Amino acid sequence: MMATRRGVIEVIDFHKSFDKKTIHSGVNFYVRKGECLGLIGGSGTGKSVLLRSLVGLEKPDQGQILIDGKDIVPMREAELVEIRKKVAYAFQGGALFDSMTVHDNLAYPLREHSKLSTSEIDKQIQEQLEEFGLLGTDKLYPASLSGGMQKRVGLARAIMMRPEVVLLDEPTAGLDPYNTKRIQESILSLKSRGVTSILVTHDMPTVYAVCDKVALLYEGRIGEQFTIEQLRQEPPGIMSQFINGESA
Ligand SMILES: Nc1ncnc2c1ncn2[C@@H]1O[C@H](COP(=O)(O)OP(=O)(O)O)[C@@H](O)[C@H]1O
Ligand SMILES: [Mg+2]
Repeated sequence: MMATRRGVIEVIDFHKSFDKKTIHSGVNFYVRKGECLGLIGGSGTGKSVLLRSLVGLEKPDQGQILIDGKDIVPMREAELVEIRKKVAYAFQGGALFDSMTVHDNLAYPLREHSKLSTSEIDKQIQEQLEEFGLLGTDKLYPASLSGGMQKRVGLARAIMMRPEVVLLDEPTAGLDPYNTKRIQESILSLKSRGVTSILVTHDMPTVYAVCDKVALLYEGRIGEQFTIEQLRQEPPGIMSQFINGESA
């Protein structure tokens, strides 16, 4: 994937309203190859809509979304299917197929989008299960897994196609410290492979553990953006208030 002038992902002047309610009024940011951007902001500020837009599941009213330098906003479904192979979106909540075993959930993207043989698919699934601490769960159905395990299966499935970009929507929400740590490790392992990511979360310890920079979505825009180093040294303005629970 060729990096653009500014990054693998670049969002320019993104506007989105639902009915008469303006959610985004000129969002700008970029993420360089291999970086993890933490995207924080109050509930309902439009973080999920922004992530969904990055894979073409929503269209902005105005603005550009450059993936690899190409604007995906005007793209039709056939082209977006190709984009979604490069950019994986791990849904808030996991979104597993309840009627399929863990094995079949993980096999699904490969059966749909690759020409791999059954034995090659099985091998990749075993590797992924091992990486995510899920060995032995392959014959189980999602309903019999804990919430933390379901989330890990969801993340494992999202990255089965070895995407170059991963969008994570609150991957640690509601998880205990053990499962949170496993998710953090998975994100770090993606990073070590050069995968670019955006992490939407309220979980600041995870932001500090895995992100390179943090952006705050506030009043329809990215109000402030800082590197983790800046954030550690000199907690600035609105972001500091947000993190410390002094503003939404
Ligand atoms: N399809 C939709 N139709 C109407 N309103 C929507 C739709 N999707 C999201 N919204 C609204 O847009 C706002 C932002 O939603 P969302 O991106 O889910 O927020 P966040 O993820 O930051 O909590 C919310 O007010 C939500 O109700
Ligand atoms: Mg959300």
